[in-house]
Amino acid sequence: MNRVKQRIEVMNMLLPPHKVNKPVYLDIGIGDATITLGVAQHYGASKIYGATNIANTKIKGIEIIDTSDYIIRLPNESVDLATAFMSLHHIEPKHGLPLMIDSLRRVCKKGAYFFVRDHDVGNEERIKQQSSFKTKQQVVDYLNSIHIKYGDDPLTITYWDKFDLCRFIERYGFKHLADYNYPLPPSRVRDSHSRVRLSGSQVHPSGSQVRPSEVRDTFKTKKINNKQMIYHSLFIAI
Ligand SMILES: C[S@@+](CC[C@H](N)C(=O)[O-])C[C@H]1O[C@@H](n2cnc3c(N)ncnc32)[C@H](O)[C@@H]1O
Repeated sequence: MNRVKQRIEVMNMLLPPHKVNKPVYLDIGIGDATITLGVAQHYGASKIYGATNIANTKIKGIEIIDTSDYIIRLPNESVDLATAFMSLHHIEPKHGLPLMIDSLRRVCKKGAYFFVRDHDVGNEERIKQQSSFKTKQQVVDYLNSIHIKYGDDPLTITYWDKFDLCRFIERYGFKHLADYNYPLPPSRVRDSHSRVRLSGSQVHPSGSQVRPSEVRDTFKTKKINNKQMIYHSLFIAI
C-alpha cells in the first residue's frame, strides 16, 4: 500500500468521511503535498490550505500559507478539518508550537477536527512495554538516525510523549477524542493514531463513536511500517 493510501486508511477509521461535509481543509507541514491532496480528495474538501515554512512553495489546487513564524494567518473560524502529519515534532516547542496551536484554534470552527500523526516517545516504562528499546536515549538515537538519513537536523526536532502533546494541545481549547495504536512487537517501534476535534455548539454528535478497540481489530492482520514510534490523535476545539 502506498503511503497516501495508508495515511488515509488510518485517518478514515478515526474520522469517516461522512463526519465532515466538504470541509475547508488545512494541512500543517505539507512536505511534497501528496498526502495533503490525497486527504483533501478523500474528504471532498471544498478548499485546501497548505501551511509550510518552505519559501516559494507552489502547488496546484492548494492555497499556500507561510507559517515559518508559526502563525496561521487565516480568517477566524474558517477551517473544518486540520491535519499535521509528522510535522509537529519539527516545530520549536517553547515559542513556536504555542503560537501555532493558538492560531490553529483561532482559525478552526467549533466542531472542527484536528488529526495529528507524530512520533510517540514516552517514559521508559512505556518504551519498554511498547517496543524492544530499553531507554529513551535508544529511541531518540534511532529516530535521529532516521531523520539524518532524510536530511533533517536532529537539533531542531522535539520528540514528544504523546500524552504530553495531547495535554499541550488541549490547553489551547481542543479536546482529545481518540487514539489508534498500530500492532505492537515484534517491531522495535510503536505507532498510534488519535484524532482531535473542535467542540462547542457545532460538535458532531457522532465524534465519540469510534472506539479504539474497533480500530485495533480492523488493523490486526495488516502489515504496517511501525518502526518509528508514531502515534495519531484526534481532537476537537472547545
Ligand atoms: C517530516 S515532514 C512531513 C511532511 C508531510 N506532512 C508528510 O507527512 O509527508 C515535516 C514538514 O514540516 C514542515 N515544517 C517545519 N516547520 C514548519 C512551519 N513552521 N510551518 C509549516 N510547516 C513546517 C517541513 O517543511 C516539512 O515539510
